[in-house]
Amino acid sequence: MSNFLKNLTRRKSATALLADYKQDGNIHGTDLVRALRLKDLVSFGIAAIIGAGIFSTIGNASAAGGPGVSLLFIFTAIACGFSALCYAQFASTIPVSGSAYTYAYASFGELIAWIIGWDLLMEYAIGNIAVAISWSDYFTAVMQGVGLSLPEYLTMDYLSASRSYHAALELLAKGQAFSTLPGNMQEGYQAWLNAPSLGGFKLVADFPALSITVLITYLVYIGIKESKRTANFLVLLKLLVILLVITVGAFYVSTDNWTPFAPNGLAGIMKGVSAVFFAYIGFDAISTTAEECENPQRDLPRAMIFALVICTVLYVVLALVLTGMVPFKELAVGDPLAYVFSRVNLDAIAGIVAVSAIVAMASVLLVFQYGQPRIWMTMSRDGLLPSAFSRIHPKHKTPYFATIVTGVVVAVPALFMNLTEVTDLTSIGTLFAFVLVCGGILLLEEKQKEATATHKGFRVPYINGKYVLPVLILVAIVLLFRYNAAELATFFSMSGGWKSFQHKIPLIGFIGVSIMLTVLTYKRNLSLIPVLGLLTNLYLMTELGITNWSRFLAWLGLGLVIYFAYGYRNSKLHNKLAALEA
Ligand code: ALA
Repeated sequence: MSNFLKNLTRRKSATALLADYKQDGNIHGTDLVRALRLKDLVSFGIAAIIGAGIFSTIGNASAAGGPGVSLLFIFTAIACGFSALCYAQFASTIPVSGSAYTYAYASFGELIAWIIGWDLLMEYAIGNIAVAISWSDYFTAVMQGVGLSLPEYLTMDYLSASRSYHAALELLAKGQAFSTLPGNMQEGYQAWLNAPSLGGFKLVADFPALSITVLITYLVYIGIKESKRTANFLVLLKLLVILLVITVGAFYVSTDNWTPFAPNGLAGIMKGVSAVFFAYIGFDAISTTAEECENPQRDLPRAMIFALVICTVLYVVLALVLTGMVPFKELAVGDPLAYVFSRVNLDAIAGIVAVSAIVAMASVLLVFQYGQPRIWMTMSRDGLLPSAFSRIHPKHKTPYFATIVTGVVVAVPALFMNLTEVTDLTSIGTLFAFVLVCGGILLLEEKQKEATATHKGFRVPYINGKYVLPVLILVAIVLLFRYNAAELATFFSMSGGWKSFQHKIPLIGFIGVSIMLTVLTYKRNLSLIPVLGLLTNLYLMTELGITNWSRFLAWLGLGLVIYFAYGYRNSKLHNKLAALEA
C-alpha cells in the first residue's frame, strides 16, 4: 500500500481512544459516574427523538402521502432498529462519547472518520436549523393566540414567502378567492407583499428561529446541563402531550378521511421519507452515554430499541389520528398538532399543544447544540481541526469557541432557510452516517473472524445472511412487480433523456450496491442485521432525490478539500506514526 493510502486509512486503536477520553474527562474536571440505568437511557433517547419531526414535519409528510404515511413510520423504524443494534455494538466496544466519528476512526481509519465527522454536522447543526424553524412556527402561533402577532415577514423564511406569493398570484389570476387559498399560502403571500425592500431584495427572515438559537447557544456556552430531573420532566411533558393529542383527537377521527389510504400511491408516501426519518433521529445519541451507564453492554441496546419502539407506536397512531381528523391535504402546515385542534374548534387544546411543543423542541435544540461542539472538540483533539475548536473556557469549562461557531452556523441559516430543505439535508446526512456505522460493524466482524479474538460486550446477534438475504431480495422484487408495476415501467423506460435519467441514478446505484452486497454476503456468510441496516438506510437515501444527493455530495466534496488542506497534514496520529517511523 502506498504511504498516501496508508495515511488515509490510519486507524486509532480502541486503547488510544479510551486514553484520550480519560484525558478529556480530566480537562472537564469531572469523574464520570456510572449512574445511568435503563430507565434514564430510554428517557434520554426520547428527549432527543421527540421534537420537530413529530410536532412539525409530519404535517408535510402526511399532506403528501395521506394516512399511508403511517406505514412509512414502521418501515423507517425497522431501518433505524438495525442501525441502533450496530451503534450499540460500537458503543459497548468503544465506550467513548464521540459517536459515529470515533467508531469510524477505529474501524475504517482517518479519512472515513473525517467524512463522518463532517457529515455529522448535517445531523446536529443542520438538524438544529430545522428544529429552530419549527420552534418558530409554534412560537408564532402561540403569540398570535395571545394577540401578539408579529409581522409575517419577520417569522418566515425568504424562499417559502417567495414561493407562496408566486403560487398565490397564479391561483388569484385564475379567479380563486384569496380566502380559499391554503393558510400557509396566505401567510407567505402577506409576508412577501408587506416585507420592506432593500434595493429590490425583500427582507423576509425568521427572527424567532434566530433568537431561540442564540438563547440556547448562550446556555450551552455557560455550561448549563439539564439535570436528570428537568430532563425527565421534559420527557414526561412530551409523552403526555402526544398522548393528549392521540386520545382527544381519536374522538374527532372520521374514518372517511382514511379512504383512500394512499391517495398519491407509493410515490406520495415516499415523499415523506426525510420528514419521517427526521422524526427518529436522536436515538443514536444514546450511544454517547456509554461511559456513564451502569451496565452499557446490557442497557444500551435495550434502551435504543425501547426508545424506538415507544416512539414508533406513538408516531404510527399519531399519523393515523391526524390524517383521520382532517383531510390529509390540509396538514401542510408548520404546526399540524395544534392546527388539527383549532380546526375542530378546540382552541384550548391547540394552545396547550403549542405551548408544550415550544418547550419540547427547545430541549431537542439543547441536546444537539450541546453535541455538535463536542464532536468538533474531539476532532480538534485529533488534530483534524484547528486547536481553537478544543479550547476550554477557564470558568465555564465548555469548548467555548466551538460552541460559538455552532451558534453562528445554526442561527444565521435559520433566518433564511426553508424547513423542507434543511430537513432533507439532515436526513440524507444522518442516513449516510447510519450506512457507515452498519458498514463499520461488517468490517469489524470480518476483522474479528481473522483475529479469532473473543468479543467482549454487546454484539449484534449473528444471523447468517447467506441464503436469507437473497430470499428477502427476491421477495422484495416480487412485491414490487406485484404492487408497483406502473412505476417500475416508468423506471425502465428510456424516454425523457438525461433530464429524466438523472433522477434514476441514486436507485441505479442502490441496485448496484445491493447486488454486490448480496454476492459478498453469500460468499462470506455476512451477518444479516448490519447488511439489512446498510441496505434499508441506503434505500431511504435513494428516495431523497438527485437534488439532495448533489447537495450532499457537494458538501462531502467541500469536506474533503478541508481535510486535505488541513487535517491530513495536522493529524496527531499521522505525526505520531511519522515520529515512530523516523
Ligand atoms: N428527532 C428530532 C426531532 O424530531 C431531531 O426534532
